[in-house]
Amino acid sequence: MNITILGAGNMARGIGTRLVAGGNSLTLLSRDPEDGAALAAELHAVARNGATTQAISFGSPIRDDVVILAVPYTAEAEIIQQYSAQLPGKILVNITNPLNATYDGLASPPGSSDAEEIARMVPAGTRVVKAFNTTFARTLVAGTVAGQPLDVFIAGDDAAAKATISQLVEAGGLHAIDVGPLSRARQLEGMGFLGITLQGPLGTQFMSAWKLLFP
Ligand SMILES: NC(=O)c1ccc[n+]([C@@H]2O[C@H](COP(=O)([O-])OP(=O)(O)OC[C@H]3O[C@@H](n4cnc5c(N)ncnc54)[C@H](OP(=O)(O)O)[C@@H]3O)[C@@H](O)[C@H]2O)c1
Repeated sequence: MNITILGAGNMARGIGTRLVAGGNSLTLLSRDPEDGAALAAELHAVARNGATTQAISFGSPIRDDVVILAVPYTAEAEIIQQYSAQLPGKILVNITNPLNATYDGLASPPGSSDAEEIARMVPAGTRVVKAFNTTFARTLVAGTVAGQPLDVFIAGDDAAAKATISQLVEAGGLHAIDVGPLSRARQLEGMGFLGITLQGPLGTQFMSAWKLLFP
């Protein structure tokens, strides 16, 4: 499959690593051409099954059906506005942990989540999925923590869109868990926030992972 990632930072690297490991081709849209080209080359080096990678400048048209917003939550509204006409029909993956200015809570409005706020902003026909917010960037590069494949929790209101993201997750060697409707993003964002707050006390340097165990 061909996938577009908006951004060329840590999560673009992490998610991109798993996507190319699954044989998917990537287009990175980056504000900094050097960052984008360097990451595209890095990801190409670990790509499998002929997957290709390219970096193009931010603002270029989006050609792919799956788009991953690997940017800070504060940048999302402006980007959605900019790309609004191109979004209908696409799956838009929201990965944010919308921390507040003091990093001691979430900035999402009470009774909502960043993912639901994004879903209200996009044009009709855009399918918003929450995923990857509970997996730290470097654990995605590794794919496993303590010998266990990462769990990727996926929330959304469109079953087909969630199935597509689940297939991409599994192809990259990870374990996909459909947690229900997009409103479950409230719990996923809480989980992501909790995971961040635990890094200092546990000394785990953003290399820990949430794992759901069952027989
Ligand atoms: N890092 C993690 O372990 C982790 C885990 C789970 C979820 N997340 C979420 O993932 C998202 C990305 O985090 P990250 O760690 O990858 O951040 P990052 O390393 O700082 O990368 C952010 C990327 O977004 C780009 N960007 C920022 N503002 C933009 C704008 N207005 N228009 C276009 N591009 C813009 C940046 O470009 P420039 O370099 O040009 O600024 C950069 O390429 C965040 O929402 C975060 O909450 C992160």
